[in-house]
Amino acid sequence: MTFAELVPIDEVIDVVLTTLDARDPYTYEHSFRVAFFAERIAAAMPLASAMRRRLHVAAHLHDIGKIVISDRVLNKLGRLTYEERIEIQRHPRIGFNILRRLPVFDDVATIVLHHHERMDGNGYPSRLVGEAIPLESRIIAVSDALDAMLSDRPYRRAVEFDTAIAEIDRHAGEQFDPAVVAALNHVSNAMAQDFRRGAAPKNQGHHAYVGHEDLMHSRIVDASQMESSGLQSIGPE
Ligand SMILES: [Fe+2]
Ligand SMILES: [Fe+2]
Repeated sequence: MTFAELVPIDEVIDVVLTTLDARDPYTYEHSFRVAFFAERIAAAMPLASAMRRRLHVAAHLHDIGKIVISDRVLNKLGRLTYEERIEIQRHPRIGFNILRRLPVFDDVATIVLHHHERMDGNGYPSRLVGEAIPLESRIIAVSDALDAMLSDRPYRRAVEFDTAIAEIDRHAGEQFDPAVVAALNHVSNAMAQDFRRGAAPKNQGHHAYVGHEDLMHSRIVDASQMESSGLQSIGPE
């Protein structure tokens, strides 16, 4: 009997996410919403059932690495400093290191590792370009951005569903996979209806989540960017 047969995967997800909920309730809820969106996008794409299964697991666990990001950074309401952005950008690799402890999660760990890559190669942690990014990671990236925009932030209200879709459309090709964005557009009307009638897992108003406030500009942070963008002038607020 394999491990996967012995322990139902959804029970493993539940244990891991319950741990995350104790640490960071916002990211716990965000995880369910990202999975909700990712599965609907995937339904509009020609995806093998094994890939869909991996996507289901990886979408739920994509931000598990945030469990070790310090409270000071995770709960910060103001703008993140350069150093704090570096810290938060560790979360995909931390998640990868946690998940790969389970051999059955090998592929899931890789998908999680690359969920902040960008099509143009300016994402993190590996600066992968285009189709070198696992398709499941590209689907999670779009779902992640959608939920980030649909969620209230301490400094701004959630945007309307149509506004969020239009913003994702604008970034197709450079940040997001155009095929994934096309699939999102295919299902967005039905998805918006589901979302408005409350079928998506609720955002219960936790505001401790600061990791994706710059998601639409999620380029890798490095020393050269620090010099060229004036990031060194951003201090704690
Ligand atoms: Fe993330
Ligand atoms: Fe996320």
